[in-house]
Amino acid sequence: MVKIAPSILSADFAAMGEAVSGISRAGADWIHFDVMDGHFVPNLTFGPGMCKAIRKDTELPLDVHLMVTDPKMWIEPFAKAGADDITFHIEAEPDPRELLSSIHSFGMKAGIVLNPATPAEAAKPFLEYCDLILLMTVNPGFGGQGFIYDVVEKIQTISRWIKEMDIPCELEVDGGVNPETAVLCRDAGASVLVAGSSIFHAADPKEMISVLRG
Ligand code: DX5
Ligand code: ZN
Repeated sequence: MVKIAPSILSADFAAMGEAVSGISRAGADWIHFDVMDGHFVPNLTFGPGMCKAIRKDTELPLDVHLMVTDPKMWIEPFAKAGADDITFHIEAEPDPRELLSSIHSFGMKAGIVLNPATPAEAAKPFLEYCDLILLMTVNPGFGGQGFIYDVVEKIQTISRWIKEMDIPCELEVDGGVNPETAVLCRDAGASVLVAGSSIFHAADPKEMISVLRG
C-alpha cells in the first residue's frame, strides 16, 4: 500500500502544532516538510526551528524536502531538529553522492529530488545510494499547482529501475496530487504520495488520506 505524506505547506501556519497532530491522527504516514530559501525557488517557508517545534507534535517520520541553493549547510541543523529523512534537488548539488553519504552519517535517510524537466537518467547513477527518490510533478515553489502529466512516464521508468536493481528505495511523488492524479501515480509505481492542498483543504482530511491511498 502507498504511504501518504501530507505537506504542511498547505496547513494553517498560525496553528501548525494542531495541524500536525491532527493530520497524524487522521492516518498520515509521513509529514512532508517543504523548505524554501527564496533563491532556489521564488518562495520562503520555514527551517530547522519549525522542524524542532513540530517534532513534539507527532511521532511520524519528518520528511524534509530541501528546495535550497546550498543543501549542504542545512543537513546538520535538520538532523539536530529531529528530521528523519532529507531530500535535496539534484539540480542544486554538484556532488550528490557525497551529500547522500553526509546525510547518512547523521543517521537520517537520504534522497534526491528531480524537477519535472530533469530526465530520469540524471538520477540513475545515484539510485543505489538513495533511500528515496522524490519526483516533482509541479515546478517547486508553491502548493496548489496543477499536476504535470508528462512526469508519469518518469515515475514508470524509475519504478522499473528500482525493481530491476532490487533496492529498497521509496519512490515519492510531489505536487498536484488529488484523487484523480493519485491513481496515475500509484499505477506508475509510486510508493509515497505527497499531498498539500488536497488534504488540508478537504472537508474531511482523514477521508481524503484514505482515498489517496487507494
Ligand atoms: C511544492 C512542494 C509541495 C507542495 C505540494 O514546491 O514541494 O510539497 O506543498 O502541494 P500540493 O499538493 O498542493 O501541490
Ligand atoms: Zn515538497
